[in-house]
Amino acid sequence: MNKIDKFEPNILGFLCNWCCYTAADSAGVARFQYPPNIRVIRIMCTGRLDPTFPLEAFSMGADGVFVGGCHLGECHYQTGNYHALISAGFVHVILEYIGIDKRRFLIEWASAAEGSRFVKLITDFTDQIKMLGPLGKSENISQEVLKKRLKNAINASRGRKLRTALLNAAKNIIKENNYSRETIYNIIKNKCYRTIERSNL
Ligand code: FES
Repeated sequence: MNKIDKFEPNILGFLCNWCCYTAADSAGVARFQYPPNIRVIRIMCTGRLDPTFPLEAFSMGADGVFVGGCHLGECHYQTGNYHALISAGFVHVILEYIGIDKRRFLIEWASAAEGSRFVKLITDFTDQIKMLGPLGKSENISQEVLKKRLKNAINASRGRKLRTALLNAAKNIIKENNYSRETIYNIIKNKCYRTIERSNL
């Protein structure tokens, strides 16, 4: 048995009611097999995702966090998944800053009819988290330090200063109308980094 097989990660999934959650349901009805590591929280839209949710999940023992929503252009609330991409970019910036591998957090899309796509996304993500190992171990961060960094990151992410910086970044992204993940990440890093540095994470 190799290292990937031994470790069973805890994965938390935030799935939008209208697409990805229904895709998971379709996968179940069709009896498609996928790893049992994911526990799901159903949200009405990925736009409901506050950036602190994944950070809270990690602080409570998740090794990986998955957010699944409708494809871009198909959100039932028009632009919720675009906002979710911005929140996800922020989470990636914070994770990187506090030394957690960004690959532990994934946002992706699957329509209600794409049960097999959902299965592939979850299978691949679970394999990736198995490769990375338990949270903190592959990063070489002790549990004590990890908890402290996450707690500080959550508090800072709720604070007015970092929220204002994120809002300014979001305005820029919306104005540029460029939702490539790389662009979002770079704009957020650019607008929020100084505030993050001052937040003693
Ligand atoms: Fe599914 Fe908005 S309703 S992402």
